[in-house]
Amino acid sequence: MNRKIALITGASRGLGKNTALHLAAQGIDIIGTFNSKAQEAQALVQELEKCGVRAAMLQLDVSNSASFEDFATQLRQTLTSVFDREQLDFLVNNAGIGINAPFSETSEAQFDQLCNIQLKGPFFLTQRLLPLIADHGRIVNVSTGLTRFALPGYAAYAAMKGAMEVLTRYQAKELGARGIRVNILAPGAIETDFGGGVVRDNADVNDFIASNTALGRVGLPDDIGAAVAMLLSDGGGWITGQRVEVSGGMFL
Ligand SMILES: NC(=O)c1ccc[n+]([C@@H]2O[C@H](COP(=O)([O-])OP(=O)(O)OC[C@H]3O[C@@H](n4cnc5c(N)ncnc54)[C@H](OP(=O)(O)O)[C@@H]3O)[C@@H](O)[C@H]2O)c1
Repeated sequence: MNRKIALITGASRGLGKNTALHLAAQGIDIIGTFNSKAQEAQALVQELEKCGVRAAMLQLDVSNSASFEDFATQLRQTLTSVFDREQLDFLVNNAGIGINAPFSETSEAQFDQLCNIQLKGPFFLTQRLLPLIADHGRIVNVSTGLTRFALPGYAAYAAMKGAMEVLTRYQAKELGARGIRVNILAPGAIETDFGGGVVRDNADVNDFIASNTALGRVGLPDDIGAAVAMLLSDGGGWITGQRVEVSGGMFL
């Protein structure tokens, strides 16, 4: 029997990499994407193979929708040559950046960059990849706790993620006919390189978040990778169209 295959965007670092490792631990084959970190991506392939799964990493800039046709072609070839399959089972739209700017000072260029990476990219990438996602497959989009609570500096970023939450419900409705489940996972603040690594590296920010979190600490990549794996497990099969916050109880 074929093993399941997951495509994870932004798998070279942070939450995407951690998700890849959690899924591999469950015997799921991995196709990851990287944007700039080719060496990290290659190192991850070796780490995943040590877990006993098949793995490949492809370059993808999610802000460049004109490249999605070529990416789909490359993905199809990889599925055939490395995995002996024509379709994948899971898509995790994880790749992303943060820009911290007050609403009053956010430039059009910053807005457009966030929109291209956080909203337009996943919208058209998923649309383009639909023929490559198997019936009864699953899609996990990635949002943020910042759509439920507001912290200064994230107006544009959180607005894009909020749009992804609405899109998730429409995708769940329209793709339900094919048995495809679509959910969106909303991490709280997690210690990664995200936003220049501020949550991990700035002690004041770290303490502020920990003291406003029910479970008393900042999130770690393992908290998110494990949660994505849970959503993609057999037990998640009746969950669709949902926003699942994974924040340890931030700002309850
Ligand atoms: N960390 C948090 O506190 C937090 C909280 C809530 C939500 N999130 C969301 O979680 C997701 C992952 O964040 P993270 O913390 O793992 O960030 P990260 O450690 O900075 O990693 C970002 C990943 O996205 C990739 N990426 C960046 N720009 C890209 C582009 N234009 N095209 C394709 N890939 C691109 C990077 O690829 P390269 O390494 O190859 O450049 C990297 O793999 C993002 O969507 C973020 O908004 C994060």
